[in-house]
Amino acid sequence: MPDQLINEIRDTLVLARSQFEYLSDLGLESQKKYSLDAGKESLGIDTNAVLQETLDTIRTDLGDCRRCGLGESCTKLVYGVGNPNARLVFVGEAPGHKEDIKGEPFVGEAGRLLDKILLAMGMQREDVYICNVLKCRPPNNRDPQPEEVATCEAFLIRQVAVIRPQVIVGLGRFAVHCLLKTKAPISRLRGEWQNYQGIPMMPTYHPAYLLRNPDGKRDVWEDMKEVMRRLQAEGDG
Ligand code: URA
Repeated sequence: MPDQLINEIRDTLVLARSQFEYLSDLGLESQKKYSLDAGKESLGIDTNAVLQETLDTIRTDLGDCRRCGLGESCTKLVYGVGNPNARLVFVGEAPGHKEDIKGEPFVGEAGRLLDKILLAMGMQREDVYICNVLKCRPPNNRDPQPEEVATCEAFLIRQVAVIRPQVIVGLGRFAVHCLLKTKAPISRLRGEWQNYQGIPMMPTYHPAYLLRNPDGKRDVWEDMKEVMRRLQAEGDG
């Protein structure tokens, strides 16, 4: 079976698991009559392994990734950091120079601003999960290519399905366009709830944009207040 098809089936199973668990949380038991194991022999997939997927197993699966050309030129793959049970996930575009060296997202100047935003929200890096659409730095920070996004987003989808946050924040035009498959201006998208993989997503400006356009900070703060309201309304569960 082609790898791409296997990956698609795996993504679907991971998503199905999170939806089952969600329904179960709601006390809807009827989903039990369906079995995720149905047909697993004919698919040739170890569904038990899929159902036990964790952030670590996804990272292992990424390995020394060469699925697109970026793996050849980057220094370190930047997978993601933070709380595996985070209620809030931030998704940026792609690693920059500092991230590429350190192997961690948002560790440069934009990252320091993101830390300040988190602090203002009463949180720290350890409370949330931070990652990017692309795991490898594009040479000279060029725009990611559609095939690079298509290849790498499969891993983001799996990370999100495992974490099952209550809210996602899309940071900046590029990330938001990738996640929502739209080209609408970020100035129009920001501040309005969207949906990514069944999870409420708030698009907002990228911290790097805010460094160049400090006036945008007011809008971002409005967006983060909306995020906090939503998290509060969802409660601790
Ligand atoms: N910009 C991003 O989008 N992601 C990073 O990790 C760093 C800068």
